Amino acid sequence: MRLALIVPAAGSGKRLGSERPKALVDIEGVPMVRRTLSRFAALPGLVETLVVVPTGAIPDFNDALADLDFRIGEVSVVAGGDTRQASVRLGLEGLQSDPDLVCIHDAARPLVSKETIRDVIEAARARGAATAAMRPVDSIREDLETGETRAVDRARLWLVQTPQVFRYDVIFKAHHTAKAMQQQAADDTALVESAGQAVDVVETSGPNVKVTTPEDLELARLVLAREALEHR
Ligand code: CTP
Ligand code: MG
Repeated sequence: MRLALIVPAAGSGKRLGSERPKALVDIEGVPMVRRTLSRFAALPGLVETLVVVPTGAIPDFNDALADLDFRIGEVSVVAGGDTRQASVRLGLEGLQSDPDLVCIHDAARPLVSKETIRDVIEAARARGAATAAMRPVDSIREDLETGETRAVDRARLWLVQTPQVFRYDVIFKAHHTAKAMQQQAADDTALVESAGQAVDVVETSGPNVKVTTPEDLELARLVLAREALEHR
């Protein structure tokens, strides 16, 4: 089984409010994107890693990813697009390795566990498409047409995260159809689903925050500092 990893990192990080692209922000002395990639170190079958970055930031990302001390296959950096969907498509077009499976994981989730990565890959290998997801912890209400709200059973809901893993042919075709039809989807699972591919949901193990706000960044720093202590 040949696996390629695409890491969308082409967002600007507006909500974080940093001057640099979000994925280059330091977490405990290491750029976020480098921390995210290290979670995939020595993953069986991983032949290629492609990082999709803001236009103009390719040299900065090459610097941030120089001299990796872990194995994630051939690493390359390509320019992304205006939306995450466009960035993923450009990533798919940039792959060199003709993989069986593609794992898509946001640079903004540097805490993802090896267990989650492994479980999602296993599920996609068996069924063609899978995503990490979590049950909501808060109770949930929804808007009604009347202007009132009503309780929703949160036990039936999933918060969709990355990693998401797909058969390469399935995700490639879904993105090209979406581009041709000018279809925008919430994420890659929604894209393949509208192309007829069922998506398996795997419950995330461990913290997997998407660093969005300064508070999220603080949380990521705390978790990674604690991990560093545990591994000493
Ligand atoms: N992303 C991307 N290309 C885009 C937009 C987003 O590759 N045009 C990536 C981001 O770099 C991030 C992931 O998609 O790793 C999830 O997006 P998000 O967390 O929203 O990051 P940003 O778009 O950078 O943040 P913001 O929405 O606050 O600007
Ligand atoms: Mg965004």
